[in-house]
Amino acid sequence: MEAELQRVGRAVEAELQRIGRLIHAAFPGRGLNPLRALDHKAMELASQDMELRAALFRFVDVTPACRSLDDLARHLTGYLDEVDARPPPLEAAMKMSGTKAGRAALGAAAAAGVRRMAHRFIVGETPRAALRSIRDLWEHGAAVSLDLLGETTVTEAEADHYAARCVDALETLAAAAPRWPGRPVLEADSLGPLPRVNLSAKVSALTPLLRPEAPELGREDAARRMRPVLARAKELGAHLHIDMESVDTQEATLDLVFELLDEPELRDGPSAGIVIQAYLRESPEQLERVIDWARGTGRRPPLVVRLVKGAYWDQEVVEARQHGWTPPVFEAKRESDRNFEVLTRRLLESWPYLRPAIASHNLRSVAHAVAYNRELGREHRELELQVLRGLGDDLAAALTQHGMRVRVYCPVGDLVAGMAYLVRRLLENTANESFLGEQQRGTPIEELLAAP
Ligand code: 2OP
Repeated sequence: MEAELQRVGRAVEAELQRIGRLIHAAFPGRGLNPLRALDHKAMELASQDMELRAALFRFVDVTPACRSLDDLARHLTGYLDEVDARPPPLEAAMKMSGTKAGRAALGAAAAAGVRRMAHRFIVGETPRAALRSIRDLWEHGAAVSLDLLGETTVTEAEADHYAARCVDALETLAAAAPRWPGRPVLEADSLGPLPRVNLSAKVSALTPLLRPEAPELGREDAARRMRPVLARAKELGAHLHIDMESVDTQEATLDLVFELLDEPELRDGPSAGIVIQAYLRESPEQLERVIDWARGTGRRPPLVVRLVKGAYWDQEVVEARQHGWTPPVFEAKRESDRNFEVLTRRLLESWPYLRPAIASHNLRSVAHAVAYNRELGREHRELELQVLRGLGDDLAAALTQHGMRVRVYCPVGDLVAGMAYLVRRLLENTANESFLGEQQRGTPIEELLAAP
């Protein structure tokens, strides 16, 4: 048994190295276009200087609330004032802010910068506005999960509005999707058809009552709004994916999804999915819980499980420290990376009870999933790989070239609704240990593919 495990381990490692290099070689042109290079420079500066990083976040966060360019410029310089060692371009910005005309110019430049950054991650303000980008991706061999921005609602009216937006998004996509050309890799696996229309939604957007101390209240309130969305998805033959958020809402989220999907009207559709976050120490137990549910339910089609590292790391760590708790997340990145591989194997072994979707921008994590899928004797099409728009575009292009099934997570909404999302992306991008950062700095392939 032990010897067999070691043999499998070695075979997967060898295959992973081969596949990782193939994918890497297929990355599109390394040259960054000038605008992306500018963003890249800003992120690099921010990752080197914690004060600057904090100033950048506070500024981005306040941008949608600023009423004028003058106001915007005053905020910017206010935050930069707290940074001790300002790089020369920012020093110049501070000088500009001395006059009204200077502030107007600075405000305009800063607003354009934030808008450009937002545009990199957000495909459009509305689902309709996003249709062209979605079709474009589809034609290039990548499917989409449209994510409706908006989370942590505070009123019933907001939550109602979000639910209505979900239905509208499903209908808009369902009306457009029949006109897209055929893409067999994206449209079926051996278990059956895969919907062209795929929507991601957050439970905290569907109820203002989601609180860890009273989980039933939030669950019932969210269920009341999610039920009609699921029913509409079923009528339209669409997929609904429920995102996972911070750790204090995840029990309620899983309970809610299992409860709804087991209801008689929803037992034969729609296709639905949940998320497991590998940075959580308790994620192995969670995945077991999902597997148990999937084995026990007669529901079809199989639940999709999107495995991610997790996007709320900073929030979880800060909150735990404030309370003097041990953080619920692994604190060292390599521990999350290692756990991700363990969970990937467990998830792939749970097919066909679950459909696996591996979501990562880390070449090693992705190559590991592809290699293990092959080790299990399965074709590429039994495995879905997911990336975020604006971060995983090059990886997606490389994967589609190799005939793999890729889905790009594409947020839709305005800057106000998207702010929390944008800040999470910036945090990841400016983290010292970011895999994408290492890749961009030209780290050798041996290191990129080294075991965590
Ligand atoms: C987030 O909203 C991608 O769902 C993830 O940060």
